[in-house]
Amino acid sequence: MAKISQPRELLQFKLSTMLHVERELAEKVLPELLEQIGNPQLKQGVESHLAQTRGHVANLEQAFAILGEDPDTEKSAALEGLTKDHDQVAKKIDAPQLEDIIHAGAAAKTEHFEIAAYEGMINLASSLGETEIVHLLEENLDQERGARAGQAGQKVDQHAAARTGLTHLAEAGAACARLHASSTSCLRSATGRRRRRRRAQRSAGARGSGPSRGRASRRLRHSAGRGA
Ligand SMILES: [Fe+2]
Ligand SMILES: [Fe+2]
Repeated sequence: MAKISQPRELLQFKLSTMLHVERELAEKVLPELLEQIGNPQLKQGVESHLAQTRGHVANLEQAFAILGEDPDTEKSAALEGLTKDHDQVAKKIDAPQLEDIIHAGAAAKTEHFEIAAYEGMINLASSLGETEIVHLLEENLDQERGARAGQAGQKVDQHAAARTGLTHLAEAGAACARLHASSTSCLRSATGRRRRRRRAQRSAGARGSGPSRGRASRRLRHSAGRGA
């Protein structure tokens, strides 16, 4: 694309980038994510947003028609970054109960990005007096916000998954302790020895202070009184 010097050209550029984003999401990113999701509630939410995303593509194509331009796409560095961010964490995960937390987080980040992008485009289209385009973009924005709100509802499941993860960790810890029973009993007897030593020190300290010292002082005062 040639250099941008006019607000209308900037709007067209932003539409091109967003068309690339929505097409990638509709044709590649969301279908691939659906294959990885295990949680039925999260899966249903992404499935329904996938249908909406196809509508977002149609609305953007219509915006081009209103401008009298052919639909064009520009690669989005932001979407590329979000995809890489998801894949980087997903590759590291080695516990199925944590995977859906990563998928839900990636979906939420994408919605936030789309919401910010549509808000900026709506401001620009509005300042250019392109009300038809504004309505199309607002339709997309409302659905992105709805999708984001739906993902916020996944919190309970995420916490449940996190709790399950903690249970597994506790079980793993118990199994580990059983495997190392001899070292654990060693540790227990060492702790016992330390406790016994501390108790002995406390009682020795108590003998040299408090009421005993008071009795000794009284004895001293009494003998001093007798000697006077
Ligand atoms: Fe979208
Ligand atoms: Fe979206």
